[in-house]
Amino acid sequence: MIDREQLLPHLGDPRNADILVHVGGRLLPRQDARVSVFDSVVQGGDAVWEGLRVYDGRIFMLDPHLDRMIDSAKALAFADVPDRSSIKQAIFETLEANGMRDGAHIRLTLTRGEKITSGMSPAFNRFGPTLIVLAEWKPPVYDNAAGIRLITSAIRRNTSQCLDSKIHHNNLLNNILAKIQANVAGVDDALMLDVAGFLSETNATNVFVVHGGRLLTPHADSCVPGVTRATVLELAGELGIPIEERNVSLTEAHAAQEMFTTGTMGELSPVIELDGRQIGDGACGAVTRRLQDEYAKRTQLLGEPLPF
Ligand SMILES: Cc1ncc(COP(=O)(O)O)c(C=O)c1O
Repeated sequence: MIDREQLLPHLGDPRNADILVHVGGRLLPRQDARVSVFDSVVQGGDAVWEGLRVYDGRIFMLDPHLDRMIDSAKALAFADVPDRSSIKQAIFETLEANGMRDGAHIRLTLTRGEKITSGMSPAFNRFGPTLIVLAEWKPPVYDNAAGIRLITSAIRRNTSQCLDSKIHHNNLLNNILAKIQANVAGVDDALMLDVAGFLSETNATNVFVVHGGRLLTPHADSCVPGVTRATVLELAGELGIPIEERNVSLTEAHAAQEMFTTGTMGELSPVIELDGRQIGDGACGAVTRRLQDEYAKRTQLLGEPLPF
């Protein structure tokens, strides 16, 4: 196992070396925080997850994230899904144990649980799901002032005919293949198209394009129905920015005045280059900045208050 001294130079924030992680009802030091080799997430990526962010003593959009997780578990026919209040309790306990009231990101995972033998069938699951609350000190992961660079991946997002993106699951291999292409190309992330060749999302975030003064985003058919995406659509409506949820072509993205991505992990990130084409002026555009500012105000005002 990697020891603490080996970890430290790679952590960004050294406090992450000593975090406590909630696994299956117990708070454990990160070195001991493990699931069984019989766990469904090991056997088949059979788990659902959410990313959450803590701002100034509140968890932003906690209930919408829990709605998506509980709905995803229901769609996958998990048995004995913990109720919302016990999931919240585990999250609060983890944050309190780590003294985290701001600047933290939570990776919340619910696996189908341990199996009695290796294999695919949920009939081998007899012990109920495993809940994991992994909270780390982590600022937004992209450079939201300077912007990010993307390429278009050759890997398409799943359609609902194959694996419905409304299930927020841990089978992330098609996104990981796209991310490998981005890494090889030396850019931040990869844009993924749907099977018809229209924009879907990046390997990790939803996408928006500003074209002719209108805000365009794909329907949440083959992209994750992002909580940040929904907030941005609401904010744009309030600001009177015309919105079109529709098929968006790659040409419209290449020729966009502005483009940005959204997600809990990275918030709103301007895209300054796509496939070697500069987007707009190659800097964060006015519409993106306005939405970034409004989003930042919301994160300071709303959210589930921490009880400690
Ligand atoms: C593939 C993908 N797209 C988009 C998102 C953004 O979703 P949200 O805004 O709910 O964080 C996520 C976040 O988990 C994701 O994994």
